[in-house]
Amino acid sequence: MTRRRYAVVGTGARAERHVRAIAVEHADTCELVAFADVNRTRMAAHNERLAHPVPTYDAADFLKMLTEQRVDVVVVTTVDRFHDTYIIEALDAGCDVVTEKPMTTDVPSAGKILDAVDRNDGSVTVTFNYRYNPIHEKVRALLADGAVGEIGSVHFEWLLDARHGADYFRRWHRDKANSGGLMVHKATHHFDLLNWWVGSVPETVYAQGRLFFYGDENGERHGHADDDRFDIDLERDDWLKKLYVDARHEDGYRRDQNPFEPGVSIEDDMSVLVRYASGANLTYHLTAYSPWEGYRLMVNGSQGRMELEVVENSWVSGRLSAVHGTTADPEQGWAKLSVQRLFEERADVPLRFDREGHGGADERMAAALYGPAGQEDPLGRRATHHDGVLSLLTGFAANRSFETGEAVRVADLLALR
Ligand SMILES: NC(=O)c1ccc[n+]([C@@H]2O[C@H](COP(=O)([O-])OP(=O)(O)OC[C@H]3O[C@@H](n4cnc5c(N)ncnc54)[C@H](O)[C@@H]3O)[C@@H](O)[C@H]2O)c1
Repeated sequence: MTRRRYAVVGTGARAERHVRAIAVEHADTCELVAFADVNRTRMAAHNERLAHPVPTYDAADFLKMLTEQRVDVVVVTTVDRFHDTYIIEALDAGCDVVTEKPMTTDVPSAGKILDAVDRNDGSVTVTFNYRYNPIHEKVRALLADGAVGEIGSVHFEWLLDARHGADYFRRWHRDKANSGGLMVHKATHHFDLLNWWVGSVPETVYAQGRLFFYGDENGERHGHADDDRFDIDLERDDWLKKLYVDARHEDGYRRDQNPFEPGVSIEDDMSVLVRYASGANLTYHLTAYSPWEGYRLMVNGSQGRMELEVVENSWVSGRLSAVHGTTADPEQGWAKLSVQRLFEERADVPLRFDREGHGGADERMAAALYGPAGQEDPLGRRATHHDGVLSLLTGFAANRSFETGEAVRVADLLALR
């Protein structure tokens, strides 16, 4: 079998999952041929883990890399604000693209990606790993089967705990120009799930959001500014030390900023009201400073109601567990799903709950993306540039609504084709 030639641009933490899938788990269908990044130390750290290290390129030589290494597929795992440049250049060079979420961070760049898809033959796949979580698949299958009838309204609340949530305020995400804020960077996952579950597209969005917890003024106001339970110790984890501490001298990238330092331009508490083209209404809330992490979904339909509660971490402690992967906390998680038809008792739906790799989703998505071509996908989990844009439009509209205080018609942002 001919193996497709993959290059990865942006060799930080998330790249590791793709590199492992390409170079190890799916080496029979894929060949890893190159890395590109602005930071040579980080590329070298990834190469150290490979049985067959690959050539590394400065990000400025991205196009040279595509030609020299005869790249078939580019995997984009850079800082969000640079996704569009690499997606477009890769498509124009005749490659396919696998991009991490969010596909991009603003309306103009989303339009440019759509143009690039139109003028080229290559495809863009957005790695919405949440779709591959068995719990989310179950929700999709039940709703598509009419478990609650026609969907009238949805309520979705997502809580990031004060360890995970704080992470977005320690790094480049804290600058809205880099990430689009959590409405884009994080909620692209959630709005994608909602579009997929509801089976419709967002039409009108009204939102309110603010920075309530993180940032210098809030830290002082709430008495958290000097709380060392929000510190992160990168030296405690060999991999994170290599990626960030040892690589810092090249680009000054600080992975461990204090979330209560000045300079935060994103929100940490956001409420969104969405009207779907199907007529369904959504109320959505995202909080980034909760004592526990997880989410609650409620779907009201013409024939009944679905309720889902997923607790990923029932609590988190501070400092010692701040580095992902070194936790020894007695954290617990669970998932409960039920459907109640009108005039019937509630029926619990059995679920498999798995906390690893986004509920096992990362591994399942890697198999679908990097395994043999032509795999069946009855639930339509594989997400295209179209799904990528649709998931972003709610967040773009919410960001605009934060600024204007007005409801935003999604069609006024971008004409979808
Ligand atoms: N699907 C998921 O569950 C999931 C989880 C984590 C991260 N992600 C996504 O993966 C991407 C990377 O996140 P991360 O946590 O690995 O970040 P990171 O900061 O660890 O890595 C980003 C990398 O991009 C590089 N970079 C910066 N500027 C660049 C440029 N101009 N050109 C090329 N490379 C550049 C950095 O040097 C760094 O190596 C983000 O888009 C993020 O949203 C997705």
